[in-house]
Amino acid sequence: MLLKSVLQLWFFTLSSGSLAAAADSPPQILLSGPASSSSLSSSSSSSLPLSAPAYRTDLLALHKHLVEIPSTSGHEHDAAVFLANYFAELNWHYELQPVAPRADTPSDKPRFNVLAWPPSSSSSSSSSSSSSSPPSPKVLVTSHIDCVPPHIPYSISTPASEAPNTTTVIAGRCSVDAKGSVAAQLTAIHALLATGALRPSDVLVAYVVGEEVSGEGMRTFSAHNATQLGATLRAAVFGEPTENRLACGHKGALRAAVVATGKAAHSGYPWLGKSATEVLSKAVVRLLDPATELGSSARYGNTTLNVGVLQGGVAANVVAAHARAEVLARVAVEPHETGHEKVVARIEELLREVDAEALRLEVDGGRGPTRCDCDVDGFDTFVANYATDVPYLAGSHARYLYGPGTIHVAHGDNEALTVGELEEAVEGFKKLILHSLEV
Ligand SMILES: *[C@@H]1O[C@H](CO)[C@@H](O)[C@H](O)[C@H]1NC(C)=O
Ligand SMILES: *[C@@H]1O[C@H](CO)[C@@H](O)[C@H](O)[C@H]1NC(C)=O
Ligand SMILES: *[C@@H]1O[C@H](CO)[C@@H](O)[C@H](O)[C@H]1NC(C)=O
Repeated sequence: MLLKSVLQLWFFTLSSGSLAAAADSPPQILLSGPASSSSLSSSSSSSLPLSAPAYRTDLLALHKHLVEIPSTSGHEHDAAVFLANYFAELNWHYELQPVAPRADTPSDKPRFNVLAWPPSSSSSSSSSSSSSSPPSPKVLVTSHIDCVPPHIPYSISTPASEAPNTTTVIAGRCSVDAKGSVAAQLTAIHALLATGALRPSDVLVAYVVGEEVSGEGMRTFSAHNATQLGATLRAAVFGEPTENRLACGHKGALRAAVVATGKAAHSGYPWLGKSATEVLSKAVVRLLDPATELGSSARYGNTTLNVGVLQGGVAANVVAAHARAEVLARVAVEPHETGHEKVVARIEELLREVDAEALRLEVDGGRGPTRCDCDVDGFDTFVANYATDVPYLAGSHARYLYGPGTIHVAHGDNEALTVGELEEAVEGFKKLILHSLEV
């Protein structure tokens, strides 16, 4: 019932449109961690299985609210406002950090990163704003609130008349990537604060925009806050779908185009020209041959290449003078700063072998793999093949990459995870946050 009232308060605050509302609301309601689990098991009114964690209802409610708000990259405004209200409700300090609009961002719906930190125990019941100076946290807990298109509505496999259990499946855009991480992280922090295992002054959360496009949210945060935070920050915990395994790093990326130049001619007399589409086809076949080495390492495996766009020619009866392939390589060769340059050199070598005169590589940008820390007991480890915000936060802190759900469904129509995975992630984030205080 307490939970119900706090949810009503959220709705009220959201519909009132005021970020400053409800500063006098009780912050302790959502802070029910393991401390109250003994009362749960003795409660006769509980219909949950005894193994359900005390935070399940709050966790699923928060996750549902987040997933229900469409927040495709560029359109994160409403998700940021929701989180601001959520933190105001809890009496946390928060800042809305403006991030430059994307081309399709509505002018009346600006984008924000949401930075927040809990009130110190002495200030939590006071309405004084004197304690709102920026924090000096030991651990930053972060993830992103933007999603890939299209928006897919929230759904849950358990009928409303039944209690969800660990096998309950929750689907919808961003249910995994990365609102599952956001909900699990906040639930973990509330639980650690409630037991006193985490001091309020030791943690800062940052929920950023634009991760799915070019990381502009994290870059903005880093530009404004990394130097000052670096004085005390020991670790940053990044929430992304890792199937609750701890990533030892992820591959880098190289964006480039293979450009072929030929000579136009009548298609009946092809020997009078030179076909750019033909030479580009040969190059693409060579680059994609499984036997072609683009660079590998023991830690990250093979560099892989995707030819995402093929363009060329003007008409079926004209020998093509121009053709172009847009490629994205997932770079497995270190170091972080220059690993991609080795892949550039390798691709250029292959293009010379196919046709040195007609082919060239236009490099758009790139980087080598990003290392993360994975020396924490109790976690399975792996390396990821996808990009994250990890490299965009400057500093010498430890970096952990972890979260519920699998990348294999993250951008698909079937994006979903189970309640069990979400709850395992809460426990994993708790371990990582506590570990971060000691590194
Ligand atoms: C979870 O709930 C579903 C119905 O919603 C039920 O079919 C299933 O047996 C339950 N699983 C467990 C482990 O209790
Ligand atoms: C982040 O940086 C901005 C600009 O310097 C500052 O106003 C803000 O208080 C900082 N926030 C945090 C949480 O450190
Ligand atoms: C890496 O590529 C080589 C061929 O270049 C292949 O033999 C090997 O199986 C590949 N490894 C993986 C993990 O795909």
